[in-house]
Parts: sequence; structure tokens; C-alpha cells
Amino acid sequence: MFGVGASWGARSFALLIGFVFPCVGCEKKTVDPAEGKNLFASACARCHGPEGAGGLPLFDGGPSPRDFHDRAFHASHTDEQIKLTIVNGKGVGMPPFGTTFTDAQLATLVAYVRGFDPEKSGK
Ligand code: HEC
Repeated sequence: MFGVGASWGARSFALLIGFVFPCVGCEKKTVDPAEGKNLFASACARCHGPEGAGGLPLFDGGPSPRDFHDRAFHASHTDEQIKLTIVNGKGVGMPPFGTTFTDAQLATLVAYVRGFDPEKSGK
């Protein structure tokens, strides 16, 4: 009863904020999960798989595209490192995307990759 009232209050407050400042966020700073999915599907999925589960090496003896469901990978890499891997590539298998993506798109991709983290997706 109290809980219901409180969440209602919070919701109408959020709505109110939306009405009062309709343009806060016009300059898209928040991460749009749909955009992350699109970017990943077109640029990364052909190697890392649509579900980010990695795949076979691209050529004989090459490295396997990273499985993003690996908790240890997420624990041992910062967002910045993931971003730099996208920009600069890694080793002989992961291509450098250079200036392909804007900073906002890079942040969106990093967030999307993070979304495969078993610790996060289990929430
Ligand atoms: C042409 C195939 C290919 C494409 C396309 C590709 N990757 Fe990779 N990626 C790889 C391979 C292979 C590795 C493993 C490299 C290694 O360990 O030497 C890798 C590794 C990674 C890693 C782990 C780096 C690390 O420190 O272990 C990240 C993060 C990553 N890719 C993100 C992405 C993202 C995001 C995209 C899309 C923008 C993408 N990759 C597109 C093949 C690809």
C-alpha cells in the first residue's frame, strides 16, 4: 500500500520532469539498447556471434573471437580497454575500427558488450 503509493509518486514525478524539461537529453547521451543491438549486429556479430558467444577462429591457427559471456573477461577489462580494442583492434584477429564509430556509438557498443556479462544479464 505504501509501496504502491511511493512508486506512483516516483512515476508521476518522472513524468512531470519529462514535461517540464522536454529537451534535456535531446543531445542523446543515454545509451539506447536498440542502437547497441543494431551496431553490434552489423559490425561485430559476424565474428562474435549475434549473442556475443564468440566463434571459430577466422583462419587456421588464428585467435577465436572473444566470448562476451565470460565473467572473467568482464572482471579483468575496463570500459576504456574495451573501447580501445574496438578502435585499435587486437592481435591478428580483431580488426581496428578506427574512426568508424562516434564516441557515443563506442559507448553504446561498450555498454552492449557489457550486457552479455552473466552477472549483469542475470539481474
Ligand atoms: C573480423 C572478425 C571480428 C570482428 C568484425 C570483430 N571482432 Fe572483436 N575480436 C575478434 C577476434 C578474433 C578477437 C580475439 C583477438 C585476440 O584475442 O587476439 C576479438 C576480441 C575482441 C575483444 C576482446 C579483446 C581482449 O582484450 O581480449 C573485444 C572487446 C571485441 N573483440 C569487441 C568487438 C566489437 C565491439 C566488435 C564490433 C564493433 C568486434 N569486436 C568486431 C574478431 C572480430
